[in-house]
Amino acid sequence: MDKMKHVLKAQQFDKETLKTIFEVTDRIRENPIPMLRNSGLIMSTLFYEPSTRTRFSFEAAMKKLGGDVLSTENAENFSSTAKGELLEDSVRTVAAYSDVIVLRHPREGAAEAAALVCPDTPIINAGDGEGQHPTQALLDLYTIRRECGGVNGKSIALVGDLAHSRTIHSLLYLLTKYKNIGHLYLVAPEFVKLKRELLLHVAESDIPLTISADLKEVAPKVDVIYQTRLQKERFDQNDFAMYQKYHRQAEYRVDADLLKLMKPDARILHPLPRVNELLPEVDNDPRAAYFRQVENGLYIRMALLVMLLSDTDFILNQ
Ligand code: NCD
Repeated sequence: MDKMKHVLKAQQFDKETLKTIFEVTDRIRENPIPMLRNSGLIMSTLFYEPSTRTRFSFEAAMKKLGGDVLSTENAENFSSTAKGELLEDSVRTVAAYSDVIVLRHPREGAAEAAALVCPDTPIINAGDGEGQHPTQALLDLYTIRRECGGVNGKSIALVGDLAHSRTIHSLLYLLTKYKNIGHLYLVAPEFVKLKRELLLHVAESDIPLTISADLKEVAPKVDVIYQTRLQKERFDQNDFAMYQKYHRQAEYRVDADLLKLMKPDARILHPLPRVNELLPEVDNDPRAAYFRQVENGLYIRMALLVMLLSDTDFILNQ
C-alpha cells in the first residue's frame, strides 16, 4: 500500500486501505503508545465552522500520540480571513508551522483546494460544506463493523438530511465498496432526498436499494439506523420554511416508539450533534451506539495521524 498523502474524500480509499486503517485502529485501541513523543511533530486544526467532537478528538488523538497541537476554532473571525485573506494563503502559512493540517470549511472542495497549494503537508478534510467528511465516515464504518460484526449481509438505513449531510455522502462512498451489504435504505422526506449524482453512484453499486419516506416501515427490517439532523445551516431562504415544518416532526424521529419496532440486536448510529431527530430517552438502550461511536473516532483519528506522519508497519508488527 502506498503511503497516504492527504485525507480528502471517501472515494480515495480502496478496501485494502480501509482494512489497514481498521487494523491500525484496533492495535492502537489495545495499546495506545505515544508514537510521536519527542518527534516535534505539530498538527494544526483550522476550523471555519463549529465543531465539538471532530476538533477535540483530533486534538486528543495528537496529544495521546505525544505530538503537539496548534488550534483555531473560529478561523472565520480569529484568523486573517477576517482581514480578507484567501483560504489558500492561510493554509500555506499554517503549513509553514505544522506537519499536518485538519481543515473544516463551509465551501465544498475547500480541502482539495488546500491540498493543491500544500502538496507536501498532509491536509485532512474535517468537513467541506455539504461535500464530505471522510474521517467521520471511517469511524462510522468502523463502528458498524465493531457493533454488528461486519457489514456482510447487513441492512443499513441512512435517515434524515440526505441532501446536505456530508457524513452521509462520505459514508455512502465507503459502503458502496462492500458489494456484500444486504440492503441499503435511503429514508428521507422529498425535500432533502439524496442528490442525483450520488444516487446514481449508489444505484450502480448493485447493492439492493430501497428509497423510502417511511421510517416506521423501514425500522423493523434493518440492522443499522444511521440517523442525521436536518442541516439547518445549509438551507437558504427559499427552503427554510420546509426546515421549520419538518424539524420538530415525529415522523423521522428515533424515539422510544421507534425502538419498539426495531430488531432486538439492531444499532442506532448518529454522527452528532443531535437536535430533535434522536431523543435522549433512547440513550440507555443497548442498541444506542452513538456515544461508543464518538469514542471510536478518537482511535480512528490516532490511526490516521500515525499513517500520515509515522510508521504504520511498526504498529502492525508489534
Ligand atoms: C457532523 C458534521 O459536522 O458534518 N458532525 C460531526 O462532525 N460529528 C454532523 C452534523 O453536523 O450534523
